[in-house]
Amino acid sequence: MAKKLSIRLEAIASMVKEGSYLADVGSDHALLPISLIQRGKISYAQAIDNKAGPFMRMKGNVDDNGLSSRIRCSLSDGLDDLSSEIDTLALCGMGGLLTCEILEKHPEKLDAIRYIICDPHRDLVAVRKRVCALGYFIDDEIIVKENKIYYFLIRFAKGNVAVPYSGNDLYFGPILRKKRDPLYLEWLEEIRKKVGAQFDKNLSPEKKESYQRLYRAIRDEIKGTLGK
Ligand SMILES: C[S@@+](CC[C@H](N)C(=O)[O-])C[C@H]1O[C@@H](n2cnc3c(N)ncnc32)[C@H](O)[C@@H]1O
Repeated sequence: MAKKLSIRLEAIASMVKEGSYLADVGSDHALLPISLIQRGKISYAQAIDNKAGPFMRMKGNVDDNGLSSRIRCSLSDGLDDLSSEIDTLALCGMGGLLTCEILEKHPEKLDAIRYIICDPHRDLVAVRKRVCALGYFIDDEIIVKENKIYYFLIRFAKGNVAVPYSGNDLYFGPILRKKRDPLYLEWLEEIRKKVGAQFDKNLSPEKKESYQRLYRAIRDEIKGTLGK
């Protein structure tokens, strides 16, 4: 049996639609596709990694679980070797800019992709903006915390955004703002304190002003009074 998924990977698994054809890009251990197939949520997947070590690890895990006929393992970069039947991409455990670069390298391969799931560690504004520019909207967002680290999971769905996202939506996450999960409010409180601590430093007036603006936005978002 595959190992139990971490809190983060379990939340990612919950975002994969039943019966999807999933490609797990940057799969490493391939725990996500293995677990999804074992629980019957999907029946076919591709696991992709561009480095020999992780590729060997994923291949070993897939073989050990008797899933070599259900999970195609590729030693390849990003979407270079994407199978044509894939309709859902997971790009997890990687930086936001790398996520964007992988997707933007092959816009033609996104034609068949209905959902893109990612958990960028940083550059979330860029990810929200750039993936939407590829013809997607933000369909769901989940915040989880594991080992004191907050993870922001985003599922994009093919289609157009009804109303363009505001700067506040891009910064905080349009769905997270609507859901107001207690963990989201906890994270906001944490970043409010961190931004507030910057005021004691010897900053240029411009920098100070930008921190003060951010501080006010976070404070208003906590209160639920920040505009769109
Ligand atoms: C930290 S691991 C994440 C593993 C798993 N997706 C997760 O979320 O737990 C990131 C993996 O992405 C792979 N990777 C980085 N750039 C890649 C690329 N351009 N194409 C395919 N895989 C890539 C790395 O080799 C590494 O195994």
